[in-house]
Amino acid sequence: MKAARMHTRAGPEALVYEDAPTPEIGSGEVLVRVRAAGITPTEFTWSSTFTTKDKKSRLPIIPAFEVAGAVEKTGPTVSDLAEGDAVYGLLDFWRDGAAAEHVAVRAADLAPKPESLSFTHAAAIPLSGLTAWQSLFDYAKLNKGDTVLIHGAGGGVGTFAVQLARWRGARVFATCSAEKAGLVRSLGADRVIDYSSVKFQEELSDLDVVLDTVGGEVLDNSWSVLRRGGSLVTIVGDAPDETAAKYGVKGFSILVEPNRNELVELARLVDAGEVKPVVDSVFPLPRAREAYESGLSGHSRGKLVLKVGNEGE
Ligand SMILES: NC(=O)c1ccc[n+]([C@@H]2O[C@H](COP(=O)([O-])OP(=O)(O)OC[C@H]3O[C@@H](n4cnc5c(N)ncnc54)[C@H](OP(=O)(O)O)[C@@H]3O)[C@@H](O)[C@H]2O)c1
Repeated sequence: MKAARMHTRAGPEALVYEDAPTPEIGSGEVLVRVRAAGITPTEFTWSSTFTTKDKKSRLPIIPAFEVAGAVEKTGPTVSDLAEGDAVYGLLDFWRDGAAAEHVAVRAADLAPKPESLSFTHAAAIPLSGLTAWQSLFDYAKLNKGDTVLIHGAGGGVGTFAVQLARWRGARVFATCSAEKAGLVRSLGADRVIDYSSVKFQEELSDLDVVLDTVGGEVLDNSWSVLRRGGSLVTIVGDAPDETAAKYGVKGFSILVEPNRNELVELARLVDAGEVKPVVDSVFPLPRAREAYESGLSGHSRGKLVLKVGNEGE
């Protein structure tokens, strides 16, 4: 098969489009013919991208951990998926990804693709949608009527988080650059704060929940805007117990996990028109390097997606 692979631990400049062995599938797994793969520009800074769970090198590697495609073959014990099923899902971070014509996936990590979406748009959902879902609902327990601040609201995770928080009935505050303010407002934010000209920590207080997708000073300045008993979830930094205790809040530093039930629920919301993936650009697989480099500019509006093959989107 064709794949975008990397033979040394490096950045996107080391990606090469080349032939690679079609993956073998084991028990409980399926072989997916990839139609589209969602990327996260920072993947090459994650050690999991280059190693197995027990820290052994797995070079050469194939990146991109979000897939939409069709089941081509099912392995032993797989009874809930069949050849030809259109699926989407988040892949195991410690295995080869979906920047290829085929990928081996645990069947339990896949769900039926939202019917109303193309493969390229479906591939933009799993990592961002699940991260936003798990942060807001599984960890922060966001409720109707709560107030929530979402940092990086114009990015892959942020665009989902704004929509999911609005769907839940929360009052949504969001930080992003001025260029993305219109987009973020259109997704359901009640108030958008341009981080380059306004200090959110001087404007907001007594919030129920903060979701941090930016880290650094943004994270450091977020604790003080919560009410006592509120929750801070960061997906990019640490949330030390001592800091949480000092502010009388709950702090969570999370790593998203595959979850079929949550993908089913996200697909239902998408098909009902409640949430939509925001796709910045679609690149053909041979231009994977360009896709990652464009993402690293740090100013994508939503997700970057690789289109695999010549069929329609
Ligand atoms: N822990 C996990 O499970 C998990 C899961 C998914 C992603 N991540 C990580 O989370 C981070 C975000 O992921 P993503 O896919 O959403 O990335 P992304 O699409 O690049 O979005 C990041 C957004 O942050 C905005 N931003 C930059 N500086 C900011 C600031 N000071 N205040 C507010 N917004 C700012 C950027 O746009 P503008 O500056 O143009 O507004 C951009 O829209 C990445 O580092 C990724 O690796 C972690």
